[in-house]
Amino acid sequence: MSIDWPALRAAAVAAAARAYAPYSGLRVGAAGQASDGRIVTGCNVENASYGLTLCAECGLVCALHAADSPDASGTADASDTADAAVQLLAVAVVAGDGEPLLPCGRCRQLLLEAGGGELLIDTAGGPVELNVLLPAAFTGADLSARRDPAPGQAP
Ligand code: THU
Ligand code: ZN
Repeated sequence: MSIDWPALRAAAVAAAARAYAPYSGLRVGAAGQASDGRIVTGCNVENASYGLTLCAECGLVCALHAADSPDASGTADASDTADAAVQLLAVAVVAGDGEPLLPCGRCRQLLLEAGGGELLIDTAGGPVELNVLLPAAFTGADLSARRDPAPGQAP
């Protein structure tokens, strides 16, 4: 599937305009193209407690999971199918000035689980793979390989 970068950047700019950022004054908008063709968006939402602030990418990933996927319609359990299949292919994040903003470390980790290392992230120099921004990442594979054995099972 080809990536419509102009549409993605425009959607991120529109989302940034809806941000709630009275404390930092930094509006952020994020838009992602999903493997089912959807464009999903998010904006940052701050809080008087500061630490509860939600990054724009959090809203984007939540939107990816929360809405119906056209790929899952007509299946017996649409939500399970969507969970397993729909991935992000490309993401644009911008600040209120309309220019690209690199995701924070937490959001790089969040995006990794939603799109994998080949997910394309827009930067001032053009799209780069998430692998480049988050090398040697911790993933679910580390959990499977390294967690304690279940009680009663040999290590
Ligand atoms: N912010 C994001 O929305 N995404 C990021 O990945 C970086 C930071 C927001 C959170 C906060 O509302 C503001 O930028 C300042 O940190
Ligand atoms: Zn973040």
